[in-house]
Amino acid sequence: MDTITCIKTRQSIRAFLKEQVPEETLKEIIQVASWSPSYKNTQPWEVMIVSGAKKEALSAMLVELLEKGEPPTPDIPEPESWPGPQQERIRHLVETRKKAFGIDLSDPKVIKGAKKANFRFYGAPHGIFLYQDKELPLWSLFDIGLFAQSLMLAAHEKGLGTVPQAFVTDYAKQTKEFLGIPESKRLVLGISIGYPDMEAPANKIRTDRVPLDEILKFSS
Ligand SMILES: Cc1cc2nc3c(=O)[nH]c(=O)nc-3n(C[C@H](O)[C@H](O)[C@H](O)COP(=O)(O)O)c2cc1C
Repeated sequence: MDTITCIKTRQSIRAFLKEQVPEETLKEIIQVASWSPSYKNTQPWEVMIVSGAKKEALSAMLVELLEKGEPPTPDIPEPESWPGPQQERIRHLVETRKKAFGIDLSDPKVIKGAKKANFRFYGAPHGIFLYQDKELPLWSLFDIGLFAQSLMLAAHEKGLGTVPQAFVTDYAKQTKEFLGIPESKRLVLGISIGYPDMEAPANKIRTDRVPLDEILKFSS
């Protein structure tokens, strides 16, 4: 697959087949992602992949914390509000999902269900966690974002599906303790990975993008 096709056909996958991904393939994807650029080649990324019974136990713990009403304490706080254009794009996304699936993502009960699906890694056989030292500057967050995209593109090229997930970092302290990641690390992002179930309705709609003139200007 050429790079442009890979970028344009990647989509967030929210339903997976049960089949495990061979460890060699997972290693290869992370190896590819490690070629991402970073500020002064600092490579401020660390990766934990959780699978099998351990992943099931982690999902159960996260669902239980949610059921108990434990307030989320992610290392990167969830935004409380968004500037106008971004708020409008979120509204559009919510509206599109409502039309396609009849689910209202602004309803707290629906949000709770969506969080549970996230905590279960949407049925994927593996959950990836990206983390880095808390002492690292804002630039390092930028770098780990580049790493995440490279990882998702490499996975896509290999016929795998991924979805980046801020939600699975909700209970950062408990998750890090569970996975043996030191508290001195910042849990940045979760990514479910596995073979996509392209028959599932969740994977049948694609998000759109704003017209180019909303984001691009030339100056000469
Ligand atoms: C930093 C980040 C956090 C995200 N968190 C979640 C999440 O918690 N759960 C989820 O289902 N999707 C999550 N997404 C996926 C976005 O909703 C998705 O990328 C966006 O709607 C565009 O759709 P596409 O990935 O199919 O192109 C996240 C994406 C990013 C980049």
